[in-house]
Amino acid sequence: MGQAWGFSRYGGPEVQEFFDRPDPEPGRGEVLIRVTVAGVNPLDHLLRSGLVPGLDGGRPFPRVLGMEAAGIVLARGEDVEGLEVGDAVFGFASTGGGTYAETTVLSAPNTARIPAGVSATVAATLPVSGTTAVDALDQLDLPAGATVLVNGVGGGVGLAVARLAIGRELRVIGTGSTAKREHAEAVGVRFIDYAAENVVAVARELVADGFDGIVDLVGGTSLRTVAPLARDPHNIIAVGDMSVSDLGGRFVERHLDRENLERSGRLALEGVLAPVVTAVHPLSDAPAALATVENGHSSGKVVIKVA
Ligand SMILES: NC(=O)c1ccc[n+]([C@@H]2O[C@H](COP(=O)([O-])OP(=O)(O)OC[C@H]3O[C@@H](n4cnc5c(N)ncnc54)[C@H](OP(=O)(O)O)[C@@H]3O)[C@@H](O)[C@H]2O)c1
Repeated sequence: MGQAWGFSRYGGPEVQEFFDRPDPEPGRGEVLIRVTVAGVNPLDHLLRSGLVPGLDGGRPFPRVLGMEAAGIVLARGEDVEGLEVGDAVFGFASTGGGTYAETTVLSAPNTARIPAGVSATVAATLPVSGTTAVDALDQLDLPAGATVLVNGVGGGVGLAVARLAIGRELRVIGTGSTAKREHAEAVGVRFIDYAAENVVAVARELVADGFDGIVDLVGGTSLRTVAPLARDPHNIIAVGDMSVSDLGGRFVERHLDRENLERSGRLALEGVLAPVVTAVHPLSDAPAALATVENGHSSGKVVIKVA
């Protein structure tokens, strides 16, 4: 039996509640873990709101929030390869999981061992923002010295993309509101404050002949404003807005498998995918953790330290 935080019907933050649940039985291809740290992501509140019903697997209520975690394997279901009881692992919750909880089940093919030297806090941020950054930059495939605009650089994915891009010797210009400047500049980004500056005018001053690539984390009007800054619209990769294809760009193709997790773990160990963790909340403070992300203007990664 363990505490979990979730919801029994779709809605706003008012439907969230703590409840006790028996440890889930790991099914075929699943591992039961004791959660050490859970990452907090925008998709968590979108699922709670019922805005993306196709992504929640039609699970019964109550549902536990959270899709990524690091923890210790307590038990294995059938057909689990490469993970043993006692391993420190990180990965994606399986359909019946939810990671804002003391124990949960992860999907074994979407779970990897944490490399020695990588903390559980760092590992818990890799499944979503870490592998997204890897996928987006792989798909841009820009050579060293190329210029990339990271639109929405101050959030969990944005700062991960920026760090990784700088590790690949790209020149990174990033947009965000005033409070994001310090974090962005600390990782080496040339920052444009969209609240105080004309993004397009400043970007054109910095990169007169257009950007080699754009990674967009904001979508909507903001994406449409910056899209003409790309030399080739094919080199616009959007992470949250599928309508990027209307502009000639691409929606990021995600790889959630163990191989990509292991790769992001190695990059974290090398320090090039080190997330900027700006808030660590206990499980009892999960409402505040998700509220920070739900307001749409959080900085870096927010995590919940469970154990
Ligand atoms: N496809 C996938 O697999 C996948 C994976 C991960 C994330 N996503 C999606 O990618 C998006 C970003 O995720 P995230 O985890 O980085 O979110 P996040 O941590 O909440 O960060 C979003 C950032 O965007 C900034 N922002 C908002 N409006 C902006 C604007 N007009 N210009 C520049 N920056 C702006 C926000 O702060 P400020 O406005 O204060 O600067 C915030 O820092 C979300 O839509 C998420 O659902 C998709």
